[in-house]
Amino acid sequence: MNYSELAPQYIRAIAPYQPGKPISELERELGISNIVKLASNENPLGCSPKATAAMHEAIKTIALYPDGNGFELKDALSKKYGVPHNQIILGNGSNDMLELAARAFLTVGDKAVYSDHAFAVYPLATQAVGATGISVPAINFGHDLNAMLKSAVDNKAKLVFVANPNNPTGTFLKADELLKFLRLLPSNILVVLDEAYNEYLPQECRYDSVAWLKEFPNLIISRTFSKAYGLAGLRVGYAFCHAQVADMINRVRQPFNVNSVAQAAAVAALQDTEFVRRTFELNLRGMKQITEGLTKLGLEYIPSYGNFISFKIGDGMNYYRRLLELGVIVRPVASYDMAEYLRVSIGTEEENQKFLAALQQAIKERK
Ligand SMILES: Cc1ncc(COP(=O)(O)O)c(C=O)c1O
Repeated sequence: MNYSELAPQYIRAIAPYQPGKPISELERELGISNIVKLASNENPLGCSPKATAAMHEAIKTIALYPDGNGFELKDALSKKYGVPHNQIILGNGSNDMLELAARAFLTVGDKAVYSDHAFAVYPLATQAVGATGISVPAINFGHDLNAMLKSAVDNKAKLVFVANPNNPTGTFLKADELLKFLRLLPSNILVVLDEAYNEYLPQECRYDSVAWLKEFPNLIISRTFSKAYGLAGLRVGYAFCHAQVADMINRVRQPFNVNSVAQAAAVAALQDTEFVRRTFELNLRGMKQITEGLTKLGLEYIPSYGNFISFKIGDGMNYYRRLLELGVIVRPVASYDMAEYLRVSIGTEEENQKFLAALQQAIKERK
C-alpha cells in the first residue's frame, strides 16, 4: 500500500516548506559550536523583558486552556490600532493567518494570485485547499501590481497575496502604489496584505494600512510578533479585516490556536515600544554593516526593507554548504527561483561580522 496515494493529488503535489536550519541540527551534524544563525529573520536582541516576565506569570496557569477568543490580546491591539475586536483575528504565527484566509475562502477550482519570488507560504496555503495558485512575473524581484491586478481580474481569482516588504527579496511597495491597486481591484477579490516586517520600515516609507480598512472591506492585513517583537518561538500573529471576513476565518480557526503564554507575552510585547525601537535601530546599523561588507566583497544585493537581505553569489547552494562548515547558517533561496542568491538575516554587529568574514573566506577559497 502506498499511503501517499490516499492523499488528494493536490496534496501530493505540494513541495514542503524548507525552514532555516536549527543551530542544534548543525551542531549534531558537524560537531561544531559557536554557530551563528542568520537564516530565519529572527530578532537578534531576543524579546522584550516585559514579555519574558509575562510568560513566567502565564506559566502559573498553564493547566488551563487559553482564552479561545484572545480577549486581552485583542483588546491591546484594539487600543493600539483603533480596530474593534470583531475585526481582529489571532493566529499561531502570521503563517496561520495566511493559511486560514486560504482555508476560509478558497476551495478546489478557485484561484489565488501572488508574485514570483514571493513568500513560500502563499502557494503552499493555496495548494493545501486544492485551489490553483497563479504566480505573476516580478519586476526587479518586486511585485508587479499592475500585472497582478490584471491576472486577478482575468482569472477571476478570489484572493491575492501581497507581501510588503516581501521575503526573501526585501522589496517594498509604496503606499500610493498599494492604494492604486486596491482602488482598481474589484471588491469581491480579497487581498491579504502581509506586513510581517512592517516594524522595520524606515520612517519615510511608513503608511497607515489600518486606516484603509474603512475604504477596502476586501482587505486583510496580516502581522506578526515573530520578527520585531522577537517572539518567533511562541507563534503568535494577527490580522485586521472586515467583520464578516473575520467571522468566516474564525469558523475554520482551531478554537485554541494561540496558546496562553503566547497571548500574555504578546500583550506585554505590544506595550514595550522601547524594545521595538532598539530592534529597529540595531537592524538599521546591521543593514548598513552588511550592505557595506557585501559591496566590499564585490557582491550585488537586492536593496531590502526588512531584517534580511538577498545577495548574488553565483552557486548559492555551494556557498550555503561552505558557510555551514564555517559555522554560519544562512538561507538558500533556490526554491524561490533565485539559485544564484543567498538570503542572510541581519544579526548583532558581532554576528554580522562573523558572517562577512566567513563569506570572504568562502569566496577566497573558490578563486
Ligand atoms: C513575509 C512573511 N510572512 C509571514 C511570515 C510568517 O511568520 P510567522 O508565522 O512567524 O508570523 C514570514 C516568516 O518568515 C514572512 O517572511
